Amino acid sequence: MTENVTRMSLCRDDILLTGKVALITGGGAGIGRGIALGFAEFGADVAVLDVSAEAAGTVAELARAKGRKALAITADVTDRAAVRGAVEKIVSELGRLDILVNNAGGTRPLPLLDMVDKQLDKRIDLNLTSLFVTTQAAAKAMAAGGQGGAIINIASIEGLRAAPYHSVYAACKAGMVNFTRTAALELGLHGIRVNCIAPDMVLTEAMVRNSPSTRTPEFKTAHERYFPLGRTGNFDDCAGAAVFLASPMASYITGTTINVDGGTFASSGWTRDKDNHWRLFTRNTEA
Ligand SMILES: NC(=O)c1ccc[n+]([C@@H]2O[C@H](COP(=O)([O-])OP(=O)(O)OC[C@H]3O[C@@H](n4cnc5c(N)ncnc54)[C@H](O)[C@@H]3O)[C@@H](O)[C@H]2O)c1
Repeated sequence: MTENVTRMSLCRDDILLTGKVALITGGGAGIGRGIALGFAEFGADVAVLDVSAEAAGTVAELARAKGRKALAITADVTDRAAVRGAVEKIVSELGRLDILVNNAGGTRPLPLLDMVDKQLDKRIDLNLTSLFVTTQAAAKAMAAGGQGGAIINIASIEGLRAAPYHSVYAACKAGMVNFTRTAALELGLHGIRVNCIAPDMVLTEAMVRNSPSTRTPEFKTAHERYFPLGRTGNFDDCAGAAVFLASPMASYITGTTINVDGGTFASSGWTRDKDNHWRLFTRNTEA
């Protein structure tokens, strides 16, 4: 107890991940790629798991260029045997597993009334079932290693608020937020911390490629007004939060969610007009 009260030994190296091994699902592109390279930058060896062999291989190569060991694993997170096999491979080839980022996920807009069973199952398998399976496999390896660990789940701001045309995705991400709390309680005595990151829009390569509107000046202006911090998110915003949560700096943080959203959860419904005055969105009739 006294030790807890008097401990004052925080040092700058506490942000480093040196000697740790991290698994990042969907690490071949977008936010996952940013987190994988952020981890490598801060000293971790990384296992980049992705359905795309090429994407996983490229990110692993970039991590190696930073002086880290890196494993590229081609697997689909909805394939339970493949996920369990991937965790075994990491422990066998990289020697341990300390950090898991449950990042693979996503959706496409689809009105609730139009959804068919196959689309429903696909969304739940990718965004929720895989979370349980991957977390269980990784947490078993961490518990067996006896060195604790950190699990970081990439939820979404859509898991904290309503998301029209994304009903299943929003429900899965809300489920992820509450799974995080429960897993934190069950795994705490193994020294395994479990936390969430909830991003709002982070422009990815795929989004810019697939939707030309993201490249227009109107898009930029609209988002400057929507985001209290005046811009959409980027990979480093998410990687910074992930490095922090994975590091000893966060050693007393578990069961919680960090919104990496530029302030949009706080602003909910408020937006800036062209003169940068805040207005409730429904009353904002000026373009
Ligand atoms: N980009 C955003 O604006 C945003 C906002 C909030 C939350 N998120 C969440 O962040 C996570 C990453 O999203 P992103 O936008 O960076 O995605 P992305 O599409 O840019 O990249 C996803 C990566 O995951 C891989 N992947 C897809 N399905 C997979 C599967 N079944 N198994 C293994 N790998 C798979 C893809 O090949 C790709 O490399 C998702 O969980 C998403 O819901 C994204």
